[in-house]
Amino acid sequence: MADVPPSVKGMNDILAPEVSKWHFLEEKARSILESFSYRELRTPVLEYTPLFVRSVGEVTDVVEKQMYTFDDRDGRSVTLRPEGTAPAVRAYVERAQWNKEPVTRWYYIGPMFRHERAQRGRLRQFHQVGAELFGVAEPSADAELIAMLHAFLVELGLPASEIQLSLNSLGEPGERLVYRDALVAYLTAHQDKLDEESRRRLTTNPLRVLDSKNPDVTALVAGAPLLLDTLGDESRRRFGRVQEILKSLGVAFDVDPRLVRGLDYYTGTVFEFKTNAGDLGAQNTVGGGGRYDGLVESLGGPRVPALGFGLGIERTLLALKEPAESFEPALGVFVAPMDAAALAFALPIAHRLRLGGIRVEIEHRLGSLKSQLKRADRLKARLAIIVGETEVAARKVQLKDFGTGKQHEVPVDEIETRVRGLLD
Ligand code: HAM
Repeated sequence: MADVPPSVKGMNDILAPEVSKWHFLEEKARSILESFSYRELRTPVLEYTPLFVRSVGEVTDVVEKQMYTFDDRDGRSVTLRPEGTAPAVRAYVERAQWNKEPVTRWYYIGPMFRHERAQRGRLRQFHQVGAELFGVAEPSADAELIAMLHAFLVELGLPASEIQLSLNSLGEPGERLVYRDALVAYLTAHQDKLDEESRRRLTTNPLRVLDSKNPDVTALVAGAPLLLDTLGDESRRRFGRVQEILKSLGVAFDVDPRLVRGLDYYTGTVFEFKTNAGDLGAQNTVGGGGRYDGLVESLGGPRVPALGFGLGIERTLLALKEPAESFEPALGVFVAPMDAAALAFALPIAHRLRLGGIRVEIEHRLGSLKSQLKRADRLKARLAIIVGETEVAARKVQLKDFGTGKQHEVPVDEIETRVRGLLD
C-alpha cells in the first residue's frame, strides 16, 4: 500500500469519542455567552498580514516567529489568524459597528494558527472560545467578563479550588512610557545578564523582556521595578474597582504585578487563568485577556474602549478529568434485520424514529442475529429492534431492552410510542 501523506505537524484530527467532549464544551460556551448577551461573530481564517502586525505588535513572539504568512495568488501577503481579537476589531471597524449600537458583545469559537514548537497542550492549529466587548469603559465590565469566564470553567466541571486567576493592570500608554524608561534603566544596568533576544528587545520593546522564559532573565526580572507601582491614581482606582467587584461576585484571584501577556494591544486590566487540574503539564494557562482601549482607534476607528478574552479549547479539555467516552451520546436503538426483505421493512421504521430525534443505527450488511447483537452491544445501544421473516409477515417487530433483558413483540404502529416509553 502507498504511504498516506501525514497530517501537518501540530495539527490534529478531532473525532469520536473526543469530539463529544468538544461538543460539550462548545454547547456550554454558547449557552453561557448567550446568557451574558454575547452574539456569535464568524470571521475568515485568513486576514491581510498588516492587521496582525499592527495590532498584536511587530516585536512579539506571535508576529516575529509564529505566524503562518504567505503571499496568495494575487501576491498579497495573508496570514492564518493567530488569534481572534484583531479580526473582531477589523470587523467592528469595517462595519462602523459603533453607529449601530453603543455596546457590542461578540463571541467566537474556532481555529487559530501559530507555528510554535508542538507539545502537549501546544499546537499549531488550536482552537479558542473568545469574547470581545466594545463600548464600555467602566471597570465593572472587566469584572463581569472575568467572572463570566470563571463561571464557564466551573460549569465545565473544573473545581473552583483548581482554578487560579491572576490579574494585573498595564495602565495607560503614558504610564507605560514612564515605566518603560525605569525598566530600561534597570535592565541596561544589568545588561550582562540578558540573553541576545532580551538585549535586542531592550531597544525595540522592553516590556517583552518581562515575558522571557530564560531562567537567568527571569531571575533578573524578579528584581525589576514594577509597572503597578508606577501607575497614576485613576488607573489604580480602576484596578481597585475591578478587584472589589470580583470579590463581590465571589471570584478569587491573585494580583501578579509581573503579568504582561504576550500581545501588545493591552491597556489597563490584564488577566490569565491557570489550572492544575487534569494533565496539562507545563502549558497550564487555559485562557487570558484584558482591555485594549486603544486598538479600535489604532486600526482606523474612533476611540472605543474594549476588552476580551481567549480560552484555549485543547488545554481546557485536557484539564477535564472525565474520559471522553462519558460524553458520548447513547445509541437509542440498533435495528437488526435478518434478511433483505426485513431490511426493506425496517428502513422506514428506522427513518421515522430518526426523524423523531432518536439516535438509530441499522445494520445494512445483515448477518447472524448473534453478530448483530454483538455490534449493538459494542455501540452501547439501549434497545434493539429485531426483524425476521415472521415479523415482516405479521407487521410486527421484536423490541429488545438491553437494560432489563426483556423482549416485547410490538406492532409497527406502536413502535415509536413503545421506544420512547423505554428510552425515557
Ligand atoms: P493568548 O493568551 O495568546 O490570547 O491565547 C489565549 C489562549 O489560547 C491561551 O491561554 C491558550 O490556552 C490558548 N493558546 C494559545 N496558543 C496556543 C497553542 N499554540 N496551542 C494551544 N493553545 C494555545 C489571545 O489570543 C487574545 N486574543 C485573547 C484576548 C481576547 N484578549 C482580548 N481579547
